[in-house]
Formats: sequence, C-alpha cells, structure tokens
Amino acid sequence: MTTMVDSTQAREAQYVLQTYRRQPVTLTRGEGARLWDVDGREYLDLLSGIGVASLGHANPGLARVITDQAQTLLHTSNLFFHPLQGQLAEQLTRLSGLQRAFFCNSGTEAMEAALKFARRYFYTLGETRTEIIALERSFHGRTIGALSITSDEHYRAPFEPLLSGVKWIPANDPAALAAAVSTNTLAIVVEPIQGEGGVRLLTPEFARGVNEASARTGAIVIADEVQSGCGRTGHVFYSEVIGLKPHLMTLGKALGAGVPVGAVLLGQDVASKISYGDHGTTYGGNLLACRAALYFVDQLVNGGVMAHVAKVGKVYEQRLRALAAKHSFIREVRGAGLMWGLDLSIDSSTIVPLGLKHGVIVNRTADTVVRMLPPLTITDGEIAEGLSRLDKALTELERSK
Ligand SMILES: Cc1ncc(COP(=O)(O)O)c(C=O)c1O
Repeated sequence: MTTMVDSTQAREAQYVLQTYRRQPVTLTRGEGARLWDVDGREYLDLLSGIGVASLGHANPGLARVITDQAQTLLHTSNLFFHPLQGQLAEQLTRLSGLQRAFFCNSGTEAMEAALKFARRYFYTLGETRTEIIALERSFHGRTIGALSITSDEHYRAPFEPLLSGVKWIPANDPAALAAAVSTNTLAIVVEPIQGEGGVRLLTPEFARGVNEASARTGAIVIADEVQSGCGRTGHVFYSEVIGLKPHLMTLGKALGAGVPVGAVLLGQDVASKISYGDHGTTYGGNLLACRAALYFVDQLVNGGVMAHVAKVGKVYEQRLRALAAKHSFIREVRGAGLMWGLDLSIDSSTIVPLGLKHGVIVNRTADTVVRMLPPLTITDGEIAEGLSRLDKALTELERSK
C-alpha cells in the first residue's frame, strides 16, 4: 500500500512546479511550538514557518476569530469599506508612529509597494531620482522590484535586467553610505536585522548615518521589518531599538500569525503624495487578513506576548551562549528576542536534516548560519527541549566532519 508520505511527495513531484527543494517530511498537525508529521513523529518548531506562526500552531483564540470571520464575511475587495481595515491601520500607526497603512498579502508585495510609493513621492514633487541604496547581504523578496534590491547573485542573475540604479554598500559602514548617497538617491533600503543574510544586526551608529544621509539629501528611508518587526525582538519594531527613523516601513510574516498579510506603513510626507489609483490589490486588507492581524496585535500588546518575548528571549540567548561555549565551531551567536543565528565555522549544510533526525526544526541561511525564529509564544520548557535537541544535532554535525 502506498503510504500518505509517498503519495504526497510523489504527487508534488509530478504536478507542482519544482521551485522548492523541500525536506522529505510531510507535516500534518501542529500545537503551540510542536509539529507532527504524517508518521506521527513530533518536532519542536524553532522556525515557525520562517517567522510566521507567531502565536504558535493551532492557536485556539486565532482559530476562533478566523472561524467567526469566515462565518460572517471573508472578503469584499477594496471597492467597499469594511469595519476592520481602518481598525488595523489605527493600531499599526499608533505602534509605529507613522501615519497611514497600505495592506497587501506578503512581504515582497509590501516591498514592491514601498518602492512604488517612494518613486511616486518624487514624481509628485516633480523630481527625477534614479538611484536606490541597498545593503550587501540583503533580502527583500522575489518580485522584480524586491529582487532588484536583494543582494544574492544566485537569486538575481536569471532574471536580469532588473531595476537599474541600485547601489550596494556594506551594512554598518556609515562612510560607504555617506559616499554613495546623493540628491539622486530615491531611497535607502535596510532590514534593521538582516534575516536571510545571516541574522546580522544594524548598529545604532549606522542607523544614525541613514537618518543623517536622508536628512541631507531628502532620500526616503525604507525599513524592511518583514522579519524583524511585529514583536520578534521583544520590541514592536527593531527600528526603534537602533534609532532608525523610516519614512516607510514594511511588515509581513508574524503579522497575520499564519494568515497571509503584508503592510506598508507610511509617514504623512510620503502618504500625502499618493493619489487614488496609484496602487492597489484585490485581496489586500480583506476581512480575514485584518481579523487575524487584529487578533495578533492584541495578543502582542495587550495579551503579554511581547513581554513574554523579551523575557524568554534572554533565556534563549543564555542557552545559545552555553551551546557556543560547548561547541567551539560556533563562532558567533547573533540576534535579539526570538530571532537568532548561530554562525558556524564548519560546513553547516546538513544541520537541517540532522535537526529533523533529532526532532527539531531550524533553518540554514547565508551558508554558515543556523537561523531560528520560533513562535513568539514558545515557553521556557520548549526552548530547553528544542535547544537540547539542537545540541545533539550539532554534536553529530561536528562528528561527521
Ligand atoms: C526581510 C524580508 N523582506 C521581505 C521578505 C519577503 O517576504 P515574503 O516571502 O512574504 O514575500 C522576506 C522573506 O523572507 C524577508 O525576510
């Protein structure tokens, strides 16, 4: 008899476009920070679907509100008002200090919209600016605009020509930024913590340099908080931690807690230059997305989730530092809150399958980095268990060298 795992994977191999090199695991159920596969094996999930299942899997409160919404009204399009989009915009603008929100369906769509808004701003001003400053090791998504400011050649090369005028500078190099920026700079785009690039934190000094460069030249600052935002670091946005003052901020991932939601938050200076019809989306900000995001934001701010991240984030860090003290091939521990990377000095390409073997889900990025983005609701006990399983996987990785 064909087992479900075989039929699932065989069917995909035949019918699904092969853009993902998946692990040979078929996940069927989750609860909190735990996942189960089709054979009933349990895993501690230290990745939460790349930073998305922010309230854990099968969160009962989230399930309740999205069920209620499905039984009431899911979608109206943006041709009409519905009660929830304004409520979510009000919450997010209050939390960020920006003035308006535009809703879409993913991080890359948010980046695409932000680039358009920055261009539209200068168009309205009657200025032609042609350059965008982006950082080496950046990742902003896969659509043509977002890809144009994503540094990895491997992602970019097959799709050239992309947007022209992108200037690359190293992160945390204020001098390189000062040399690159000019009155021809349309936007300076940064991730406050580079995620895909290996969990690399921007420094307050560099953030100050970005603010100054923008003040001097009028360039729009775009903070991509798709991964680092929405409470991931124990702060609503990491920009506030480093003192970055963005005109535009992009959100995604954790915001919908598993329901696809993206957003751009805008300062009034840019927002006031956008007109009816300048941008739009059929699904963006529909009732399902807004209901989920409203529930997430309420849990984050009023339900104690952000305070929880700040607290367990410290425990997480201590445990990672203990791992680094034990395994000399961990050359650096980087991160904040519940966004962490272990930078290894040995080839880490097998850490993901080894993790799965020992019952823990992590990610490998930037060649040498083991990245972790667990649910924001993960408990002390689950952290201890997950990292003890990771310890076993690291020990086996070292032995295999
Ligand atoms: C910082 C950052 N920006 C943008 C994106 C793109 O988001 P999405 O995959 O939802 O399109 C990602 C995804 O990993 C990201 O980490």
